[in-house]
Amino acid sequence: MSHEQHTATVRVGSNIAFIKYWGVADARINLPLNNSISMTLAEAHTTTTVTWDASGQQQTDEITLDGRRLDANAAQRLVAHLDRLRALAGVDYRATVVSKNNFPMASGIASSASGFAALTVAGCRALGLDLDATRLSAMARRGSGSASRSLFGGFVEWEKGIDDATSVARQLYTEEHWALYDVVAVVSRAAKHVSSASGHTLAATSPLNGCRIASLDAALREVRQAITLRDISQLGPVIEQDALAMHGVMMTSHPSLLYWQPETLAIMQAARAWREQDGLAAYFTIDAGPNVHLICEQESVDALVERLDTLPGVQRIIVSPPGPGPQGIEN
Ligand code: DP6
Repeated sequence: MSHEQHTATVRVGSNIAFIKYWGVADARINLPLNNSISMTLAEAHTTTTVTWDASGQQQTDEITLDGRRLDANAAQRLVAHLDRLRALAGVDYRATVVSKNNFPMASGIASSASGFAALTVAGCRALGLDLDATRLSAMARRGSGSASRSLFGGFVEWEKGIDDATSVARQLYTEEHWALYDVVAVVSRAAKHVSSASGHTLAATSPLNGCRIASLDAALREVRQAITLRDISQLGPVIEQDALAMHGVMMTSHPSLLYWQPETLAIMQAARAWREQDGLAAYFTIDAGPNVHLICEQESVDALVERLDTLPGVQRIIVSPPGPGPQGIEN
């Protein structure tokens, strides 16, 4: 965090949404159509070091992601975000960014959420900008909507807001509140075909979008209450329904987005069977990809992992309780 050296390293957890962000009111600033609620993950995180060259010698931003140096095209979205940080600080320094995920990228686990949040926090700290978590949340949102939520640990709600300053996340409860787990069944490591960023603008083309949005106030209330009461049997059905509603919107937009693979559906069916036949309280949610996130309490984790292991097509299982907000790491 040395300001003199213009460098900072920060680790940020990804997050899994219980009520999804899908659809934008204003794509330029990632102003969403609806509030969303998520849990920040302890075991899926990005660690990012940003070093600004105050000497003016460096000509371009140099970005290395998981050991791979990005070319200009691949770096575009990140450079645009560095431009926002430069504008905020009123400098024109180029940056060296080294970022590492501890989970497979672009596979439906939101690497952009932790990635843009980490870039924002490390970038601002290294510039000596002293922004509070709320302002950092707004800033991270510009890079990737879901990144706004990773600025806080535990259970988080992103208030859709009406403009750049008001569309920010806030913490509902810390990670100590409830030992809820996200058990991620990774079925494909392949990169997703359509990025969420372009998908958000398609939501409005689905005839189902308005129905989903109209039903969300009730769903958000249910999720807040279920988290408050630590009630998995109240939380589960609501999060499954919103994941299905979001995918319904995706499938019926023009062009249609179909993220599921056969394995995705097999896991969804299996989760319901385990629940109904064996009382294993795990509920699914799915982001913009084929992987299935099963949400359950600590007591169900072992049985769930054991069963997932027997399903063909499950390549890897990631298990995560709720985690903290951004953590500074001394260089
Ligand atoms: C389906 O725009 O935050 O995960 O395109 O990767 O930046 P990127 O994602 P973002 O959309 C995430 C959408 C979602 C649901 C959610 O996390 O709320």
